[in-house]
Amino acid sequence: MGKAFYITTPLYYVNAAPHIGHSYTTIAADCLARYHRLKGEEVFLLTGTDEHGQKIEQAAADAEETPQHFVDRMVERFTALWQLLAISYDDFIRTTEARHVQIVQACLRRLHDDHQLFHTTYQGWYCTPCETFWTAEELGQTPAASTPACPSCQRPLEAVTEDGWYLPLRASQAWLQGFVRSHPRVVQPQTRFNEVASLLEQPLPEYLCITRPRQRVGWGIPVPFSQQHVTYVWFDALLNYISVPGYSREPERFQRLWPADVHLIGKDILRHHAVYWPIILHALGFADDEMPRTIFAHGWWKIGEQKMSKSRGNIVDPTVVIQELLEGQPYAADVYRYFVLREVPFGQDGGFSDEAIMTRLHADLANDLGNLVHRTGSMMDRYCQGRVPMPGPVGCAVEDEALRQEALGLPKRLEASMDLLNFSGALEAIFQLVNHANRYIETRAPWQLAQASQTARLHTVLGMLAEAIRIVAITIEPFMPQVSSAIWHQLGLGSSPKRLVDCSRWPGLIAGQSMGARAVLFPRKDRKDVEGS
Ligand code: MSP
Repeated sequence: MGKAFYITTPLYYVNAAPHIGHSYTTIAADCLARYHRLKGEEVFLLTGTDEHGQKIEQAAADAEETPQHFVDRMVERFTALWQLLAISYDDFIRTTEARHVQIVQACLRRLHDDHQLFHTTYQGWYCTPCETFWTAEELGQTPAASTPACPSCQRPLEAVTEDGWYLPLRASQAWLQGFVRSHPRVVQPQTRFNEVASLLEQPLPEYLCITRPRQRVGWGIPVPFSQQHVTYVWFDALLNYISVPGYSREPERFQRLWPADVHLIGKDILRHHAVYWPIILHALGFADDEMPRTIFAHGWWKIGEQKMSKSRGNIVDPTVVIQELLEGQPYAADVYRYFVLREVPFGQDGGFSDEAIMTRLHADLANDLGNLVHRTGSMMDRYCQGRVPMPGPVGCAVEDEALRQEALGLPKRLEASMDLLNFSGALEAIFQLVNHANRYIETRAPWQLAQASQTARLHTVLGMLAEAIRIVAITIEPFMPQVSSAIWHQLGLGSSPKRLVDCSRWPGLIAGQSMGARAVLFPRKDRKDVEGS
């Protein structure tokens, strides 16, 4: 068996409920996974939760619960959201699970036995919300400066002096710099690659602390060779990417999954993934061709001009958007998925607002896609007794060729975008076909053909439209899986599988086959049913 396409999301901290930012990375990962499955590839999509560390410990204390009880309760908020959003993960890892803890301890032991770690005292700054150490050098700080802010989240840092175990960073800098230079696609998009390249032009901190003193942070994986320490939460969490595929435990499975094809992350955790993570792997003995293939860092969702944060009180809960703002939409979760993938080019920052979602719902989904499916379906009911029409003797007339070519060319355009994780570009290509088909309805005016009793031509036109819709239903599956299934049922294709390769078949529908029951995909609140107008 060949290598599976392995995609990861970050492991989300369970100190608070998931918000749109968390859902964004996970939806993007799911979309990519579904796309590769549609191509017939074996895929492994991994997500999960980061459950150790100081901030979880503090959140549990604030909730007057034990950390374990707290994380057990909070993780359900994440799994429930992923279910609502139809996230098709293949595994869900919680860092408190024994299968992960064992591998983290095995890695620590291995580094310790290889004399790669050493014990010393750290003096510097710590950001608890980011669970990240910052050296004075990294902050560009003069000795007299007052409490600095975290360069990532801007919150005040805490001065810490801790003894601990350290992994050299600077000693691996030259190797990492060479690796990044010779793998220009390892960090994407280009802006993030440039950021990493310039970070590596400055001296890295000498060492990365990979433990925390137990008397300060009790909630972590015990360090096997030191009773006074628990594992630093980032060292613990990053290792999930290899612990789940079976590192050091299931060699065959590990070989089938590793290296990760895409680590999807937000830009806030680029340094951890593009600097610390490869250096950890390198220290564990991973060769250059065993490094992650792509680390893609997307942008931030903002509310107006502001970053979302608990302290600003502007956190948007996806469940509220789906259940309240989109109330009455039968495919509300898909509307939300469509919005986040379509609204902002992947990699850039974007503004989140209720108005922007409603505009996408009304313009792209109800007016364009919903209208196409509804009008075609009702005309097939009216003029073809709800069956796939037999094409007329002319077959595919010259004037129809443009629509057919656009539909048959869609998989290539989709691939070109999806290879770059350009989700909005991929959706644009699909909607070009939707709009082309809508224009085709207007110019071919099937109702006039019916009036003029040009039945053969009428059937050809409706058959063309049904084929275009079939191709839309297949290609839209990674983005809107439930809408895709609804259209599939309306085409009478029931539970037959959707495969990208079937987009090159024309016709793919069988003449005479019955269509399924129809329903409005994106009903408008203000009007009963505008789609068939
Ligand atoms: N636990 C670490 C990751 C460990 S991975 C081995 C962590 N967790 S987190 O809960 O803070 O999630 C961070 C991720 O959530 C970001 O990288 C990004 O994927 C997503 N987002 C959080 N806020 C976001 C926005 N406002 N906008 C877009 N995504 C952001 O860091």
